[in-house]
Amino acid sequence: MSINYSERIPNNVDLANDRTLQRALEHWQPKFLDWWREMGPSDFASADVYLRTAVGVDAQGWASYGAVKMPDYRWGIFLADRAPDRTMGFGDHFGEPVWQQVPGELRSQFRRIIVTQGDTEPASVEQQHRLGLTCPSLYDLRNLFQVNVEEGRHLWAMVYLLHAHFGRDGREEAEELLSRHSGDVDKPRILGTFNEPISDWLSFFMFTYFTDRDGKFQLKSLAESGFDPLARTCRFMLTEEAHHMFVGETGVGRVVKRSLETMKEIGSDDPQAIRNHGAIDLPTIQRYMNFWFTSSLDLFGSEVSSNAASSFASGIKGRPDETQYQDHICNDATFTLETPQGQKAVSMRNAMNEVMRQSYIKDCELGVRRWNMQIQRAGHEFRLALPSPHFRRSIGAWAGLPTDPQGKPIGREEYDRRTPEWIPSESDRAFVHSLMKRVIEPGKMAGWIAPPDRGINNLAVDYEYVRLN
Ligand SMILES: [Fe+2]
Ligand SMILES: [Fe+2]
Repeated sequence: MSINYSERIPNNVDLANDRTLQRALEHWQPKFLDWWREMGPSDFASADVYLRTAVGVDAQGWASYGAVKMPDYRWGIFLADRAPDRTMGFGDHFGEPVWQQVPGELRSQFRRIIVTQGDTEPASVEQQHRLGLTCPSLYDLRNLFQVNVEEGRHLWAMVYLLHAHFGRDGREEAEELLSRHSGDVDKPRILGTFNEPISDWLSFFMFTYFTDRDGKFQLKSLAESGFDPLARTCRFMLTEEAHHMFVGETGVGRVVKRSLETMKEIGSDDPQAIRNHGAIDLPTIQRYMNFWFTSSLDLFGSEVSSNAASSFASGIKGRPDETQYQDHICNDATFTLETPQGQKAVSMRNAMNEVMRQSYIKDCELGVRRWNMQIQRAGHEFRLALPSPHFRRSIGAWAGLPTDPQGKPIGREEYDRRTPEWIPSESDRAFVHSLMKRVIEPGKMAGWIAPPDRGINNLAVDYEYVRLN
């Protein structure tokens, strides 16, 4: 089904034939727009931004490019096409037909999962609220706004499910999604990482690399869900999510590149000398990585989780790319877990969070390897590395246990003393902030970041991606 843009809410879910649902969503729409004006990108409401908008969910339709003022962006409801005769791919109901409605006994579990996913989407827009003011280029400014409008659309995707399948409770949850705010002392966002400020662009690139990648894995596991509308929603969200991680990977890569160019120019790898020349030294990049990677690891939850086991058993949430596994039931399988007390065998179903976290870590490593190739080609010994998953954890078996970045347990005193070596210190943050000055001449880049290899949608790098009216 193609998407009808003449409707107030563009959609491919035949909203026009469900008047009650349509009215409920039209009632929520102005509240969303109020939220966007207040909490969305600061100061850019009148700018023309070169954005992609989905006009269909197929390969041709999902990316149509053009200049748009963000408040006029057509946020809509798009589900990937229905796969005929789709059956449950995992758990106790393996092989049975998937559900088009939420089974009553799973209602509260599904609602909690959808609300938790939904909460992250506006949270990240709030975290990035003021970033546009210090953009390193128009190209980057455009990418920030693309990510922001799509996170707004992901909120719409979850709100649609809440309205369409959870009645009054769902409508109340949809309101709450606009009333919690990132970092708010009284009503914070649900998950920790989404309350961390993103006040500089290095953090933004780390966030889109590490935290949007957590999003990718959550969406992949929900794309396996036995509740078909949720699975189809997440499948379409994944196509958009890929660009967010691209922004992160290329963003960090360009900061690394500029750092290497500076080292060559000045003939030194002394961090202070590099900083004096307005670039970010590699050890600082490593500390930012340590911070965002470890924070994102917590998003997967405890290593051993009866909740995860029951989500898997009942068909709510599968493993990312479930088809890669032989055993989709996992009734007798065990998983060997690393705990501070040594190795421990646990039931596979109880270890689903950890299974997911390990696939995530592997995926994170790919980009790190590419960044390191740049460093190696430039002839330097330094290598970036993901810290151990036991380092700086706040959730699960390793929570609160002081270790070094390699995961070796150390005393609390040493941990506290050496923390500034491992995650950004006040002075690292102050330095990175000092570089954040806005550059808005088409094609020009801030001094701390190299230009991208190519522009968006085959346009030149110096295209005027954002016209600031
Ligand atoms: Fe998202
Ligand atoms: Fe995202």
